[in-house]
Amino acid sequence: MQVLLIGAGAREHALAARLLESPALGRLYWLPGNAALEGRVAKVGEIDPCDGPRIATWAQRQGIDLAVIGPEAPLLAGVSDCLEEVGIPCFGPSRAAARLEGSKAFAKDLMAQAGIPTARYVKVSGPREALEALKEWSAPLVVKADGLAAGKGVTVARTLEEAQGAAKSLEGPGVIEEYLEGRELSYMVLAHGQEYVALVPSQDYKRVGDGDTGANTGGMGAVAGFGLISQSLQQEISCNIIKPALAAMARAGAPFKGVLYAGLMLTAQGPKVLEFNVRFGDPETQAILQLWEDDLLEVLNAVARGGMPQRLLWSQDWALSLVLASGGYPGPCETGFPIAGLDAAMEHVRVYHAGTRLTQEGIVTAGGRVLTLAARGGLELARERVYAAAAKIHFPGLHYRRDIGKYL
Ligand code: AMP
Ligand code: GLY
Repeated sequence: MQVLLIGAGAREHALAARLLESPALGRLYWLPGNAALEGRVAKVGEIDPCDGPRIATWAQRQGIDLAVIGPEAPLLAGVSDCLEEVGIPCFGPSRAAARLEGSKAFAKDLMAQAGIPTARYVKVSGPREALEALKEWSAPLVVKADGLAAGKGVTVARTLEEAQGAAKSLEGPGVIEEYLEGRELSYMVLAHGQEYVALVPSQDYKRVGDGDTGANTGGMGAVAGFGLISQSLQQEISCNIIKPALAAMARAGAPFKGVLYAGLMLTAQGPKVLEFNVRFGDPETQAILQLWEDDLLEVLNAVARGGMPQRLLWSQDWALSLVLASGGYPGPCETGFPIAGLDAAMEHVRVYHAGTRLTQEGIVTAGGRVLTLAARGGLELARERVYAAAAKIHFPGLHYRRDIGKYL
């Protein structure tokens, strides 16, 4: 099979590495890709990853049999629709279904209609309405921009003044919602219409600093393992959240296909949805793939064509992923620094590239999240492995959390 993978992050590198292991793979095309897998995949640098019509024309000419879309932006731009219009099966939802991630207001209304547990909320059209609405609320509370913001459009306000500040800086519609207390969990399923099969549960570490301090990021590391939650909690999430969400999407005329990702808060009143994403989580997927033993190409191809596998094959180990970030991340970062120690690190763990670029001087930093390291084993062993590998990697400004997998 000729496969097209869209995206440029560590999640896509991890997916690509697994697709390359499949005996059914002919050639893997990676649009746009990053500095990883040089010589093993065909990088497609000249097409905008959100330009659906151009991608579809190119894919048809190239004889692509399956497309796999990693990030949310191409999904929201309708790349999946364009590919399917020309008969190329795509692992990833339609533009209409991607609104579940693309609009907080759409997601909140869908949850309210379907009776899915989530934080109490009010929609606002902009700063003025937000400030007015805040008169009815007390802190702590959460202010969210409506559209995509790579995990950075959310302010968890401890005081009303902080919430007012966030409300004032809204650049368009938003949502104000109740603050939920608890442990966070990422629960992903592969879905086609109302059929689905769950992936191993995972937990993302969203804040930049140890002990969950500092700014929100796209994710600084993750743990995956069945030990994260009980079977009865899995059942509850499945029945109260996943099933009704898929049914509501079908009713809304936007049946789901791909990965449905529920970002949950495990509260004293049970699991509640913080957000839905319509794709694999990053960096959760880098951990999850260490435990997932199926032929990835076979599974993604089946889902894309509507044949949901009955069950997936999993290791009962734990897996960890750790993000190595540039100085300044999640704010503006200085990049272009050579990365030392990559080969030594690779002896211990999987090293996935995100913000990297290949130059004549070798591989240099080119973004905020630079690399993800991932390992599996017992929880302690997996931790030791990723941190031993992290200690071997150097570039100016490098920072990472020291507490991934520490408190579960
Ligand atoms: P979101 O993009 O909606 O997932 O929000 C990003 C992060 O903000 C989440 O992973 C949580 O850590 C935090 N967050 C969002 N909504 C809430 C909420 N209602 N209560 C507490 N924390 C929240
Ligand atoms: N790690 C959070 C996300 O992928 O949105």
